Order: sequence, then structure tokens, then C-alpha cells
Amino acid sequence: MPTRSDTKANVKSTTLVNIPTTILVFDSGLGGLTVLREVVRARDDAHYLYVADDAFFPYGHHSEEEIVSRVVPLIGELISAHRPDLVVIACNTASTLVMPHLRERYSVPFVGTVPAIKPACAASQTKRVSVLGTKGTVQREYTRGLIRDFAQGCEVTLVGSAELAALAETALSGGTVSDEAILAELEPCFVGAGEDTSKRTDTIVLACTHYPLLLDRLNRLAPWPVDWIDPAPAIARRVVNLLGEPAGDNSGSAARMIFTSGREHRLNAALVPFFGGRVPA
Ligand code: DGL
Repeated sequence: MPTRSDTKANVKSTTLVNIPTTILVFDSGLGGLTVLREVVRARDDAHYLYVADDAFFPYGHHSEEEIVSRVVPLIGELISAHRPDLVVIACNTASTLVMPHLRERYSVPFVGTVPAIKPACAASQTKRVSVLGTKGTVQREYTRGLIRDFAQGCEVTLVGSAELAALAETALSGGTVSDEAILAELEPCFVGAGEDTSKRTDTIVLACTHYPLLLDRLNRLAPWPVDWIDPAPAIARRVVNLLGEPAGDNSGSAARMIFTSGREHRLNAALVPFFGGRVPA
């Protein structure tokens, strides 16, 4: 079966029509917008399709088997329907499980999102790092393997949050989220409260793409200042490595948002900056 890139090359050689690159960004909900925002900055010329599997949200509450059997065929359907040039799985809870299955089954290039344990441990001065993710992500064998391979002498504390992704969705959608609710999820990340500043946690991996949506509040509520590691810029660099630098201006590029629940996308001004100013259809 011809790939989209073959088709594009044929069209270019015969009619010189320039078809923009299409990038599909996928998450369980709105968290993947924090990855989309960086990818859009890096490839402003591309078409974007953002898919939120809200019908199955939150992924953190599902078993490994449920996530694999949900995500792998769903991505296949999206590839057939939209023919993306690249797919970003902007979800740690899914990426820590499904990437080998997706790569085995579909030929389109994939970029996953996994906990940034290696750079966090390399940057930590106190050698105390916490990984804040969904309960699913922190339990994964994949995550444990990253710690075994890349902790670099750091003590790594895994903190599985049951509620923070949903709280981030509520906040982005304009709902009220109390400081207490956020702090209850955050506090276990801060290890060494009674100790001197050279020993306590100084670096926290944001191992769920929803959490950077709350970054201002995380900073304000943190018992002491820490570095938050958000993988989105590294994901955007990987996309550019695979697809190349932007191929011209963004005048023809567009954006679309799909919810698997079938609910109508109600455009909310809060979403537009994530799409680089585009108004998603
Ligand atoms: N945004 C997802 C992640 O990065 C998970 C949120 C959920 O539990 O669905 O892990």
C-alpha cells in the first residue's frame, strides 16, 4: 500500500502541489496539548490533528491489558482515516506500554512520551529525584527499567497520583480546583523536609502530560523550589529529527480536534495558544 509520503512525492513530481505534513497528537484527554504546543513551535508549517480519547479517560485508572487493547486498534483507525505523516503518543500512561505494539503493526513513524528520568537524574544536585505520574505509569516495568538504567546514583521516589490529571482537565476547562486538592497529590514528591537543603528533593519529573497544565500552581504550592522536568521540548526535537525542519510558512496549515466520545469541540480561548494561534475545527 502506498504511504502518504509516496503519494506526496508523486504529486510533487507531477503537479508541484505542496501538501503540508500532517502530525497526529494523541492523548487520553487534554494533557497532550502541552506536548502539542512544543511540537507546533518546532513545526509551525504542519497540519495538526489532536485526538483526545476522552471516552476512555483517565487511562491511569485502567489495567495494562485494557490500555493496549483500546489504544492499538484506535490508533490504527486514526491512521487509516487521516493518513498522518507522524504520530505522537502524548501520554506516558499509554506510551510506557503500547509503543512496541504500534511500531510492529503500523509503518508510520511514532514518537512516544515516557518519564524523563535520565535528564532529571543527570541534573539533580541533591541526588533526590521524584517522578510524579499516574498510578499506572509509576507501576510500569518500563518506568522501573528507566530507574535501573539511568538513576545515576540518585534516590528516585515514585509518586502515583490518582487525581491530578482530572484536576488539570477541570482547571483548563475553567472549573475550580482547590489548592488543597493539588497539594495532597504533590506533597509526597518532596522528600527530606527535615533535612538541610543540600539533601532534599530538587528535581521532579512531570511524568504525565496533564501536569504542565498546572505548572504555575505547582510552583506556587511547592514546599520549596524544585526543577520540574517536562519532556515536551525533547519530544518536539525528536519530531524535527524524524520529519526535518519546517518546509515553508504556515499559511496553509490547519488544526482539528477530535474527542472519541463524539462530543462537540466547544472552542474555548484557552485552547488556541496550544495550537500556535490556530483555531481548531
Ligand atoms: N496524560 C496522560 C499521561 O501522560 C494520562 C492521564 C490519564 O490518566 O488519562 O500519562
